[in-house]
Amino acid sequence: ASVVGKTNVPGSKINSPIPDYLNLVLREIGADNPGQTAAYIPELKNADPDRLAIAVSTMDGYVYTAGDAELEFSIQSISKAFVYALALEEHGLEYVLKRIGVEPSGEAFNELSLEKGTCRPLNPMINAGAIAAHTLVGDAELSEGERFEKIRKGLSAFAGRELGHDETVFQSEMKTAYRNFAIANMLRNYNIICQHPEDVVTGYTRQCAINVTTRDLALMAATLANGGIQPVTGERVVGRHVVRQVMSVMLTCGMYDEAGEWLANIGFPSKSGVAGGIIGCLPSQVGIATWSPRLDTHGNSVRGVRMCKRLSDDMGMHIM
Ligand code: DON
Repeated sequence: ASVVGKTNVPGSKINSPIPDYLNLVLREIGADNPGQTAAYIPELKNADPDRLAIAVSTMDGYVYTAGDAELEFSIQSISKAFVYALALEEHGLEYVLKRIGVEPSGEAFNELSLEKGTCRPLNPMINAGAIAAHTLVGDAELSEGERFEKIRKGLSAFAGRELGHDETVFQSEMKTAYRNFAIANMLRNYNIICQHPEDVVTGYTRQCAINVTTRDLALMAATLANGGIQPVTGERVVGRHVVRQVMSVMLTCGMYDEAGEWLANIGFPSKSGVAGGIIGCLPSQVGIATWSPRLDTHGNSVRGVRMCKRLSDDMGMHIM
């Protein structure tokens, strides 16, 4: 046994090498698998509910994994954090803030949740804010395909490899995307977006269907935790000021109407996706990712939340 792989996170209670520890977490949390796969996207409803993975990336790009960490699934709402980052990097804070706020909505992720008076979506982590952020990557007049390609490239830079998307998941969600069409139409009505709502929902839905592994997500989270520099490629993907903004909003809005409970109990910036992924960032320390498809009533992975709670307790990851 070596000390390589032992955590140096302050307050750690771990006294076994990280790979053994991660396998132990999977065994213990994996035994009980409650919740439901996302019902409103047919292709996700049919996902294998027993998949389970965890990955932790250090700031020098070493990734520890356990379980199904090399299998791909769709990034879904986790993309929102990175697309918000790309929008901020391109336009600056002031421009983006005019169109998307930073207040928790206290409502479900697919509610309209527009701010009274300004009609801005309350934050970029709910669908309304994310649909608006999607249009802020690239020039306003880009075609749907050009904008998607820009976003795919941007997310790939965070992951440190070329990401693709799952056309079947995309098609499947488009068939039932009534709420997102309604949201995009309202955003167009209030001039928060200036493109055709149908193109915007198409591009946004394809963005959500970008495929990642749990390992990819850990590295994407680590890029945020590392101040915007991808730990393996060394590329500066976004500026420090951008990362500060993104992680702040993740902290207060990343888990939707479960955000307060998450902050009190687990306590680090995070973002979930409806395919069962969760990312977490401990600034300057680690990026973590979990995957388990069954969700709670807020749309967050049940076993993912449990794994994050366990890591937070054992490694002293709560930022307070
Ligand atoms: O727009 C949607 O509803 C999905 N493509 C993404 C939602 C999502 O991931 C919510 N997360 N827990």
